[in-house]
Amino acid sequence: MDTGISGVDGSRQWRVLASWALAIALVAGCTAPMTRPQQVGSGEPEIGRRLISDYGCVSCHVVPGVDSTPSYVGPPLDHWGQRSYIAGSLTNNEENLVRWIANPQEVESGTAMPDLGVTQQDAVNISAYLLSLE
Ligand code: HEC
Repeated sequence: MDTGISGVDGSRQWRVLASWALAIALVAGCTAPMTRPQQVGSGEPEIGRRLISDYGCVSCHVVPGVDSTPSYVGPPLDHWGQRSYIAGSLTNNEENLVRWIANPQEVESGTAMPDLGVTQQDAVNISAYLLSLE
């Protein structure tokens, strides 16, 4: 008798756990798109080129077309349009590049590239310039 009762309880517990797991999966699935960056692809490369200078990206990176004393604190960003990965972790596309530029510490906690407070729109324009570097 005891075995029967504990069997029923066990299976009910399992069902409760399973429905919680399902609920969490559904909630996660629904909120994921809201945390993604806004629509990208509308960037202006020429504005981006100037922003790279304004934000001081060239104090750490060599960027073709942006004058500066060469600095190799971070990797050179030449031929950026041909790169496969961003910081060795994200696929190199506009959406991910915007994410990286606006919030590198969120992408890779502890990376040597600091958050520079780049706005979403500025990151869109900067990524348009970098991706135009063949
Ligand atoms: C204080 C130095 C510093 C500044 C300023 C800086 N970066 Fe970086 N950046 C780095 C370092 C270091 C890395 C390498 C990070 C890693 O791989 O984890 C990096 C990585 C990157 C990468 C990926 C490079 C690759 O080869 O995968 C891009 C793109 C990038 N930075 C763009 C920018 C842009 C755009 C700005 C200006 C808004 C900027 N960075 C400002 C230091 C800097």
